[in-house]
Amino acid sequence: MAKMEQALVPRQAVVQTAQALMVDGKGLLAMDESNPTCNRRFAALGIALTAEKRRAWRELIVTTPGLADSISGAILFDETIRQHLQDGRPFARALADVGIIAGIKVDAGAKALAGHAGEKVTEGLDGLRERLAAYAAMGARFAKWRAVISIDAALPSAAGIAANAHALARYAALCQEAGLVPIVEPEVLMTGEHMLQRCAEVTAQVLHEVFAQLHVQQVLLEGLLLKPNMVLPGLACDVQDSVDEVADASLNCLLRAVPAAVPGIAFLSGGQSAELASARLNAMNRRFKTRLPWALTFSFSRAIQQPALELWRGEPANAQQAQRALQHRAACNRAARRGEYTASMDVAV
Ligand code: 13P
Repeated sequence: MAKMEQALVPRQAVVQTAQALMVDGKGLLAMDESNPTCNRRFAALGIALTAEKRRAWRELIVTTPGLADSISGAILFDETIRQHLQDGRPFARALADVGIIAGIKVDAGAKALAGHAGEKVTEGLDGLRERLAAYAAMGARFAKWRAVISIDAALPSAAGIAANAHALARYAALCQEAGLVPIVEPEVLMTGEHMLQRCAEVTAQVLHEVFAQLHVQQVLLEGLLLKPNMVLPGLACDVQDSVDEVADASLNCLLRAVPAAVPGIAFLSGGQSAELASARLNAMNRRFKTRLPWALTFSFSRAIQQPALELWRGEPANAQQAQRALQHRAACNRAARRGEYTASMDVAV
């Protein structure tokens, strides 16, 4: 193959994978909680904090009947991509067998940003080229890197936004070089008393900086997916805006900040209830249907998993009931992606 053609191969691969992940009606399932995060959720429900329990929970998820009707891709954690189902198949293979594309969380977590109290920068660029090659060999076709931005009276600083945007762009460039689709996740946290408008301003600022850095690093927009927060009032804010107001604020922000060449936007849930996350995604798709240049879908962890985890509680006897709850949440979000979710879908459950 000529040198020029060789250089095109990863670019074609990432564009095709990004499109496959955004295939009509489906979304992503984040099941890539780090061990401390997964253990925190297990501990709250009295589930043993062991590698085997984490493996068993993830096996329950990937063997949920009908999951692939709503889920195009699932994001795994390093521990999980190295584990196997009881029948001996590695997780990436089990996902591929049902038509779900395997992804992998590759950041090393958000650490305190020197000189900037209260702010974090996500680490993990050192050695990333080699780790991406290893994950690709294990069957991963896309990756995820989460940056975290906090809001308070003085935050975020320009330094915090710049450091995180730079790291996201460097990560994205390395992913595309390896033939993996980067999911670019700048999460503006819900924690705080701020109003919706302040979240809108910060989210816009962050997205402008992220896309500027992606441009500087020559990342191919057609071969990445954006995983943003919805534009929401702080959890402790007195004014909790309506579903339609959240939908309008989120889309007004994203339509201005996200280039049309990006194939898809897949929201994180960030601690919203499962029902609210579905209702808000639904309102966005319903109200903006004819104006969206990109697919608008979900990449939820808690808003898909939490109701099922609360049913499972680590007990094999509860597995079927938990799988039904997972399948239901995935189906609700699939409907929300089409603007066809109604609250009545949740009443009977
Ligand atoms: P939540 O949907 O629980 O916010 O998780 C999404 C995610 O992948 C965070 O990185």
